[in-house]
Amino acid sequence: MTAFINRITSSRVWRSFFRHGWPDNPLDRSLTMTSNIFFHLHPVKVNRKSLRWSYSFGLGVIASILFGVLIFTGVLLMFYYVPSVERAYPTMKEIQLSVPLGQFTRNMHRWAAHGMVLIVILHMGRVFYTGAYKPPREFNWVIGVILLILTLGSSFTGYLLPWDQLAYWAITVGTNIASYAPVVGDVSREILLGGREVGQNTLIRFYTLHVALLPLAVALLVSVHIWRVRKDGGLAASDS
Ligand code: HEM
Repeated sequence: MTAFINRITSSRVWRSFFRHGWPDNPLDRSLTMTSNIFFHLHPVKVNRKSLRWSYSFGLGVIASILFGVLIFTGVLLMFYYVPSVERAYPTMKEIQLSVPLGQFTRNMHRWAAHGMVLIVILHMGRVFYTGAYKPPREFNWVIGVILLILTLGSSFTGYLLPWDQLAYWAITVGTNIASYAPVVGDVSREILLGGREVGQNTLIRFYTLHVALLPLAVALLVSVHIWRVRKDGGLAASDS
């Protein structure tokens, strides 16, 4: 039997899949980590403490999964939603009432959005509590702050899209608040609205930000963020 296993594991086909021996020595353990597309996201060596569930509660991973759910359900919603002031509200109602699984998809999108805001804030709290913002991770903390702003921005821009009374007045109030910022206040309000009040220009701007610009920026920065975690030697507990 052992001879048979040895023959298989030393065959060309096997070695084209697994480019390392059985991970029972430090070299093969390292090769197992670096030559596997999923494992290579992790550093080769980590501290036991950082593997404990209660160290990070997996909050960053949960935020990434919620982002994936948002992209998936968001793309499904895009098949029906029309970003025009005449059609936005009726298409939302259509999604809820006559599209198969439409209500479910819309609810998943909404709950995942609320969840992501909450989880990202909790993740930030965990990082702060464990002192994981200290060198060499301060760059990743800054990326994290930008990710928090982008997450809140995605939530804000998505809020207008149903084009109901709640959305209309929330965005009117929200953009009025922006106008109180010193110096750039009025300009930023007009840039956001695409005019002086909430209308078709605002809807198309918020839609473009919500379905293209912000998700692309989040995807790019999350990739840098997770890559940075790996390059900084895994979670901060690995240092102690
Ligand atoms: C879209 C939002 C975010 C996503 C998807 C995300 C994702 C992740 C992931 C997957 C990790 C690895 C471990 C873990 O699960 O904790 C991580 C770690 C980290 N995150 Fe985030 N993150 C986000 C936002 C933030 C924010 C808002 C901050 C802080 C302002 C931040 C700062 C950090 C730092 C410093 C680490 C390294 C922690 C350590 O070494 O212990 N992240 N993040």
